[in-house]
Amino acid sequence: MRKSCRVAVLISGRGSNLKSLIENAANYEISLVLSNNPEAPGKTYAEAHKIGFEAFRRDNYKSVGELKAAIRSRLIQENPRFVCLAGFMLIVDQETIEQFPNRILNIHPSLLPNFPGLDTHERAVAGSVQRHGCTVHLVDRGVDTGLIVAQAGLDVRTGESAAELGARVLALEHQLYPWVVNNLAAGNIELSDGNVKFSSVAKEEAERRGFLLP
Ligand code: GAR
Repeated sequence: MRKSCRVAVLISGRGSNLKSLIENAANYEISLVLSNNPEAPGKTYAEAHKIGFEAFRRDNYKSVGELKAAIRSRLIQENPRFVCLAGFMLIVDQETIEQFPNRILNIHPSLLPNFPGLDTHERAVAGSVQRHGCTVHLVDRGVDTGLIVAQAGLDVRTGESAAELGARVLALEHQLYPWVVNNLAAGNIELSDGNVKFSSVAKEEAERRGFLLP
């Protein structure tokens, strides 16, 4: 398939999900990586693959709002089909969401609606949950509240530390996120206001790979 589906990825740090999105891009191409952190370690993955990396340094803006507006302007100029947040630690503002309706995705390290926000693995261990995992969802005004597109789960092991659990969930994230974006790009997943539809191909593949669809 021709890769006509351009994707922008927003990162703040390590960038392991960016790496997986790059390495597993079958039906899309990552055309741009943006960050609010000029020193984000993940930028090396963009550079290694000759993908443009642009950072927006907080000191250069009067407010976080202005920084977010600058990121928004750059995204509007780029006009990617999808914007993927991958460990991007700023809350996306309403204006940006409205510019890209049903086009901004996030990966979150829990089985939403459980554990929105930070420290998800610590809270999962403290709460002695049996199942944990990750979620790809649309970004809306809330924090980790948007429409769920797909999830990947695992059984929490007895005595497992938050770090061990987090590492296993991260491995699932690296599987799930490119799967969702490849299927969106191929038209096997369709997003519209408040609704996600899956083709039979996507449903079968999700079942085979153990992904959960809403
Ligand atoms: C990932 O676990 C991602 O799910 C999480 O941050 C990590 C980033 O890792 N995102 C959030 O917590 C967003 N609320 P990465 O930089 O190696 O992809």
